Amino acid sequence: MALSLLIAIIVSILAWSHFCRPSRNFPPGPYQFPIIGNILQLGRNPHKSLADLSKTYGPVMSLKLGSINTVVISSPDSARLVLQEHDQAFSGRTISAAAEAHGFDKISLALIPVGERWRKLRKLYREQMFSARRLDGGAGVRREKVQRLIDYLRKCSESGRAVDLGQAAFVTSFNLMSATIFSVDLIEFESGTTQHLKETVEGLMTTLGTPNVADFFPFLKWLDPQRIKKRSEFYLGRLLGVLGGIIDERFESRSMELERKNDLLAVIFDLMEESDEYDFNFKDIRHLFVDLFVGGSDTTQSTVEWAMTELLANPEKMSNAKNELKSVIGEKKQVEESHISRLPYLQALIKETLRLHPPVPFLVPRQVDREVKIGDYIIPQHSQVFVNAWAIGSDSSIWPNPTSFKPERFLNNNIEFKGQDFELIPFGSGRRMCPGLPLADRMLSLMLGSMLHNFEWEMEGGVRPDTTDEFGMVLHKAVPLKVIPLCCF
Ligand code: HEM
Repeated sequence: MALSLLIAIIVSILAWSHFCRPSRNFPPGPYQFPIIGNILQLGRNPHKSLADLSKTYGPVMSLKLGSINTVVISSPDSARLVLQEHDQAFSGRTISAAAEAHGFDKISLALIPVGERWRKLRKLYREQMFSARRLDGGAGVRREKVQRLIDYLRKCSESGRAVDLGQAAFVTSFNLMSATIFSVDLIEFESGTTQHLKETVEGLMTTLGTPNVADFFPFLKWLDPQRIKKRSEFYLGRLLGVLGGIIDERFESRSMELERKNDLLAVIFDLMEESDEYDFNFKDIRHLFVDLFVGGSDTTQSTVEWAMTELLANPEKMSNAKNELKSVIGEKKQVEESHISRLPYLQALIKETLRLHPPVPFLVPRQVDREVKIGDYIIPQHSQVFVNAWAIGSDSSIWPNPTSFKPERFLNNNIEFKGQDFELIPFGSGRRMCPGLPLADRMLSLMLGSMLHNFEWEMEGGVRPDTTDEFGMVLHKAVPLKVIPLCCF
């Protein structure tokens, strides 16, 4: 009985994959093997394998990942078509089995379809978190968190200790987020709690980024063959638990607060009371905050770690950045956000880092909600769409010597990463573009500027930094960067 059922399933899949061949105008792509399609061609580094394949099949390429039609976009022009010209049709998200844990896909801003609820949440981000007024108001909090980072690095410097730079950047961005949301620091540079929460967020990111057979063959979702959804339930549950505890406590003690706190949670409580527009419940708020922590901390950490890695591998670029800081700010003063517009080399090195190491190499995968024609090609309804920002940033026809770290390439042009210049799209573009960009921009400049201005840096053991990356939801360094800070003043 079981055997005949298995045979029936295999025969139906084979028949399905044979008869449902792509239409004549479907974009070109490599041969699609029965059942598995092109899964094996993804390899360990899908961003690089798909960039290589697109050299043969073109910037709009079709693949089949198991039973899922997939379109890979690998040039600025095709990215413009998808993210700008046909933005609306391409604004859905592919939902992985892992993202369904705790109903996250039904609540998360990053995953819900574009609709009334999504618009309300984007408005909340735009007006209550990331408007220039709000961000200016939070400058003091960011200054304080970065000062804590400098103090920690100074302590390591005094004892000649190497620092895990990714870890230090993670703690800083996580606390920046928690201070903005709750007015508290959630983690310390050196404690068990740091590891616990860091492991939780990293575990969640790894789980969300692990290729899952159940995503390639959705009929296997109920079986959860790799236990990925189970792991996601575990990590997400742990994070939701910590956040829920804080929210409940604040709500209960609210009436007794002598002074109203100036943070996002206070704003949300006020909106819940005063406005019919924001009909949040506590579950919504917990998920909203998960979006912020997950969206903001790992991506910022990865960018800071990569920037420092590239600067250590290219000492003359490090000197250029330090000289600029010294001449604009002066030796003994601290970097402030108000200095950033006068630090073009610092801005250029951040752009160069995001070009070479976009933290989210395929953006957050999109899905088309209807059949669309782009250029000469038909993209079938429900196809998932990877915009390969890594391939675009590494394309030698756009960027001469693409593998070299050269911030100078951004000094004499107006290329920005704000979604208008499709050769540089680490934050995506169009209506689903990253809403955290204005905060990320300030955090990156302040953290990197302060680390460069306050310290000289030496690799532990005097070795050259390793520049191998490791694919996941966020593109991390395969080997963490361990460096010794030496006090400048
Ligand atoms: C270096 C830092 C960051 C990078 C590179 C980055 C990158 C991205 C990318 C590529 C997307 C998908 C865009 C698209 O589909 O076109 C995205 C979406 C998103 N990001 Fe970021 N991000 C960063 C920081 C942040 C921060 C600081 C926050 C919040 C505090 C944040 C919150 C989000 C959210 C909520 C979405 C989903 C938006 C939606 O689907 O409507 N990100 N981000």
